[in-house]
Amino acid sequence: MGRSRWSNQLGFILAASGSAIGLGNIWKFPYITGVNGGGAFVLVYLLCIAAVGIPILVAEVYIGKTSQSNAIKSFEKLDREGSPWRHAGLLGIVSAFLILSFYSVVGGWVLDYEFMALTGKLGSMPAEEMEGLLGSIRSSPGRMALTHTLFMVMTVLIVVGGISGGIERAAKILMPTLMVILVGLFIYAMTLDGFGKSMAFLFSPDFSKLTWGGVLEAVGHSFFTLSLGMGAMITYGSYMGEKQSVLKTAGLVAFLDTIIALIAGAVIFAVVFTFDQEPSSGPGLMFAALPALLAQLPGMWFLSSAFFLLVGFAALSSAISLLEVVVSYWTEARGWSRKKAAIVIGAVIWALGLLCALSLQEDTPLKIMDTSVFDIFDKATSKIFLPVGGMVISLYFGWVLGEKHLGAIFPAGKDSIMAQGFLWTTRVIAPVAVVIMLVNGLLG
Ligand code: PHE
Repeated sequence: MGRSRWSNQLGFILAASGSAIGLGNIWKFPYITGVNGGGAFVLVYLLCIAAVGIPILVAEVYIGKTSQSNAIKSFEKLDREGSPWRHAGLLGIVSAFLILSFYSVVGGWVLDYEFMALTGKLGSMPAEEMEGLLGSIRSSPGRMALTHTLFMVMTVLIVVGGISGGIERAAKILMPTLMVILVGLFIYAMTLDGFGKSMAFLFSPDFSKLTWGGVLEAVGHSFFTLSLGMGAMITYGSYMGEKQSVLKTAGLVAFLDTIIALIAGAVIFAVVFTFDQEPSSGPGLMFAALPALLAQLPGMWFLSSAFFLLVGFAALSSAISLLEVVVSYWTEARGWSRKKAAIVIGAVIWALGLLCALSLQEDTPLKIMDTSVFDIFDKATSKIFLPVGGMVISLYFGWVLGEKHLGAIFPAGKDSIMAQGFLWTTRVIAPVAVVIMLVNGLLG
């Protein structure tokens, strides 16, 4: 039986940008930017995307496309059976479990807000109650268990639908809708008093506010937001056809992902500064900002429903890529049916997600040194697993695949400046950058 494929190049672009664009862009990027003081952090993040993220994205998509195999097998296929490089794929599978379990809990918060927006509850809520709303959701395990379950069920259903029938079809509707809603909100944000301050906060760097910890967070986030370092882009690349261009599609995906993070940040900080909120308030930033704004408006019901729908779409199209990494491995390596794999693996991740939700409670044994399981999964994956995974993938491309493969990526040939620049970035620049930032960020 032949392997599944995207129907065409657009199918890949939509699915891969669906994977990249998610809670990382709309929820995480604005809040970690706020916590890390704004402009200087954004600049480091943009540099990481350009110098490390894009080259690794190209390498991952290429490895997938050429091997036409899952995240583990692809390393063996292009090297040899039992190749030690396959451990990068194994680490990726572990990351997929850990990320999706807390991701789905946050996806559940989004669904919760969406229901409250649709039923008009959010609109009629007094301001003080709205401010404490995320806090009260985070301290109700039953409520989180319900929405997290719902989010996981939707993720599993789409993955059961398969590549072109499930994932691609979902992305075709989700991604364009998301862009339209976001651009609409951005145009609206431009009319707010706080818009100028928002731009200044994001784009005028003040390096005195940046720490090594912040730099590591920027590096980690550049991996997280582009879905790198854990095989998601290898897996999606493996459903690409012969004639599709790795360079063009990867470039477009990185561009869309970055622009959407910046637009989401601009909108959220415009609201934060207009309503005198605290930019460094942490994970609750997005959840507090939007309702506060929308409460002022006559179209509250519609706008807030639209906004949380957008965030929900973005989250779902990323969650499916996390599950697909594991499902594609299990179906190919263990011969399970897609349906069985998606349901069983989804159930394990669902159980881990319950632990994450429970770990947010006041008195719970699910904390290690005062850090919740939720935070451990989040921090360990984005600050350690993804950068390490990405570095290994980069070295693998640079030193194992190397020069022979450049011609297939760069139309100008393997000796062109771009091809050589790319090769040495994967061989030396990206790995060294990751090591320096890991060491300083973890020790400093
Ligand atoms: N890129 C996604 C986001 O920004 C998260 C993700 C990470 C998805 C790793 C797949 C793999 O929300």
